[in-house]
Amino acid sequence: MPMDNDFHFPTADADPRDICKALGLFATGVTIVTTRTGAGESIGLTCNSFSSVSLSPPLVLWSLSLRSPNLPNFLQATHFAVNVLAHDQIDLAKRFAQPIANKFEGVKQVSGAHGMPLIEHVGAQFECRTEARHYSGDHVIFIGNVLQYRFSERAPLLFFRGRYAAVQENS
Ligand SMILES: Cc1cc2nc3c(=O)[nH]c(=O)nc-3n(C[C@H](O)[C@H](O)[C@H](O)COP(=O)(O)O)c2cc1C
Repeated sequence: MPMDNDFHFPTADADPRDICKALGLFATGVTIVTTRTGAGESIGLTCNSFSSVSLSPPLVLWSLSLRSPNLPNFLQATHFAVNVLAHDQIDLAKRFAQPIANKFEGVKQVSGAHGMPLIEHVGAQFECRTEARHYSGDHVIFIGNVLQYRFSERAPLLFFRGRYAAVQENS
């Protein structure tokens, strides 16, 4: 079978970071997934595992590490929101990728129709009702039914090879 010469073939005893390198070649957008604690506090994290699942009904998914301190909050929440970041929101992406308590301090947010924290000036927002949760390996996959969404023409923020990137559109 013909193969590209620049391919890497990790063996069983390969560096475990190789799988991250390989997966990092799949360029993604960047989102902040949010919800509310039982006490009504806004919480959220930077997430690039977001993906669409179904159009009719409209379903999306994302996965959360079992190590996240926010796991109990997302497990008990009936809803979550996905905020798709725009190209100029790297600071927000970095902030929400840290295990800190006051992520929303100074962040402009509004409550969506279903009470979820929506971040201002993002590319798109999806408010979802949690439809299913699947434990899989070291993550929980959340599937959400999109109840409400909004979008703009703002160019997206990308994540590629472990770094933030911008879209360069081909004509
Ligand atoms: C670009 C990017 C994408 C990420 N995607 C995910 C993800 O899909 N799921 C996840 O659990 N953590 C993801 N993380 C890591 C979390 O953002 C990070 O662990 C954060 O501290 C989690 O928030 P928490 O500690 O408040 O739970 C991602 C980080 C970055 C920088």
